[in-house]
Amino acid sequence: MTLSGKVSKTKRDQDQFVRHTETFLSQEQIKLARDDLDYWGRDWTRSFEVAPLAIAFPTSTEQVVELVQLANAEGYRLVPSGGRTGLSGGCVASNHEVVVSFDRMNRILGFNSVDRLVLCQAGVVTAQLQQFAVEQGLFYPVDFASSGSSQIGGNIATNAGGIRVIRYGLTRDWVAGLKVVTGNGDVVVANQGLIKNATGYDLRHLFIGSEGTLGLIVEAEMQLRAPPEPHRVMVVCVTSLNDLLSILQCFQHSLQLSAFEFFSDFAMSKVLNHRGLDRPFSTVTKYYALLEYDESDADVATQAFSECVKNGWIVDGVLSHSTLQSERLWELRDGITESIAADSPYKNDISVRISEVPGFLDDVGSVVEKHYPDLEVCWFGHIGDGNLHLNILKPPDLEISEFQDRCRAINPLLFELIQKRGGSISAEHGVGLLKRDYLRFSRSKGEIERMKAIKDAFDPNGIMNPGKIFAPNGDESA
Ligand code: LAC
Ligand code: ZN
Repeated sequence: MTLSGKVSKTKRDQDQFVRHTETFLSQEQIKLARDDLDYWGRDWTRSFEVAPLAIAFPTSTEQVVELVQLANAEGYRLVPSGGRTGLSGGCVASNHEVVVSFDRMNRILGFNSVDRLVLCQAGVVTAQLQQFAVEQGLFYPVDFASSGSSQIGGNIATNAGGIRVIRYGLTRDWVAGLKVVTGNGDVVVANQGLIKNATGYDLRHLFIGSEGTLGLIVEAEMQLRAPPEPHRVMVVCVTSLNDLLSILQCFQHSLQLSAFEFFSDFAMSKVLNHRGLDRPFSTVTKYYALLEYDESDADVATQAFSECVKNGWIVDGVLSHSTLQSERLWELRDGITESIAADSPYKNDISVRISEVPGFLDDVGSVVEKHYPDLEVCWFGHIGDGNLHLNILKPPDLEISEFQDRCRAINPLLFELIQKRGGSISAEHGVGLLKRDYLRFSRSKGEIERMKAIKDAFDPNGIMNPGKIFAPNGDESA
C-alpha cells in the first residue's frame, strides 16, 4: 500500500471513530493531530514505534464504559494512559489503538478522616495525592522520581514501588478499594475500604499490576497514614557491592531505615554534570549508598556508621542535619534517570531476594564485564529491596538499532542468571512490551497459561492493551 493509501485509511478510521463516539464524547474529548498522537501514544521509553488511531479523554466512568462497549462492538483496541512515565512500554500504542487518557479524570472525590481514605479518580497525579495528604496532616508514603507526573491509576496498574518500599511497601499496600471497568464493560468494585474482608478472592489484587490488560481503573480509594518524623539522610562511600549488604544488615540491626539505595560513581558523576552540582565528598569509590532514617535515630545511625567504618565496609560519608540537606543528598539518587535519558539507556530492572544479592551481583558483574567491556554501565537501585537497575548506555556513534540488538542478544544470559536464583526480570517497571518476550524466565508455563485464562475472563475479546505482558504469538512461554 502506498503511504497516501495508508494515510487515507487512517483518516477514514479516525472519522469513523469520531462518528462512533459522537453520542457520548464531545469533539474536545478526542485528539487526532500527529503531535498529539505521538505525545499521548508513548511513555518514557523511546524505542517503540508510536501509531495510535486516536486519543480519547473521558471525564466519567460512564464514558469509559461507553468506550469499552464500543471497542467490543466495533473491534477497537484500547490502551490506558496515565502520566506516561512508564519504562517498559506498557502504555505505548503502536498499532492503531485508541489511547484512553485519564488526564481529565484527575479529581480527588472525597476524604474520610476517620478511615484516612482518599477517593481518587485514576488521573490524580501522585504528587497531588501526596500534597493532599500533607494538607490533612497525614502522609502518602509511595514516592519516586516521577511523582510529579505519574498518575495513581498508572501506579496501581504497575504496582509502582520507588524509593521507600523497604519501610512502607509498594502501591499495592495502600490501595483500599478499586473501581474498574473490565474489558467486557462491567463495572467491578473491588473491596470498599475494608481492612478485613474474607469473602473469597480479592479481585483488587488481580487488577493491581495488571498493566491495563484486564480493564481500566477509574477510581481508587487510597490509604493515608500518620506522618513520619523528619528524615535524615546519609550517603556513604563503598568499595564493593558485597559490602553494601553488610552495611544494610548493620543498620537494620539497630534502626528502621526508610530507604537504602545505591548508585555507582559513574551514575553520580552523570547527575553532578547534568544538574551542575558539587561532589558531596572528595573521596571517590566505585559505589555509594544512600540511607534514610528518622531524625530521632540520628545518634544510633552515627554509631552504626562508625561500626561499618571499623569493619572496612564504609570508607567515607556525609550526613544531613536538616530537611534541606536531606533533599540535596536525595538529588544524587533522584536525578539519575533524567541524567542518563539522553544516552538512550538499555534498561534492566531486576530483582532477587536480598540474601541472594551478593552472589547475584558477582554473576551479573561477570556477564557485564565479558559482554559490555566497551559500553558504559550505569548501576543504581533499591538494593534494600533486592532491586537493581542496570542501565547500558548507548555510545553516541553507535546506531540505536545496532545498540539495542546487541543488548537484546545478552538478555537471555542475564535472565538465565535471574531464573537460576528465582528472581524477577521486572522488579517494579512492569513487563509491557519491553520484557514480554522474556516472561518465561520469571513465570512457569503453567502460570502464564493461568494468567492468560484470567485475562480471557475479564477481557474475552482481547481489546485491553493487547500485546502487553504476553507476546501475541505466545513466545513468552516457549
Ligand atoms: C528509579 C526508577 C528508574 O528507581 O525506577 O529511579
Ligand atoms: Zn526504581
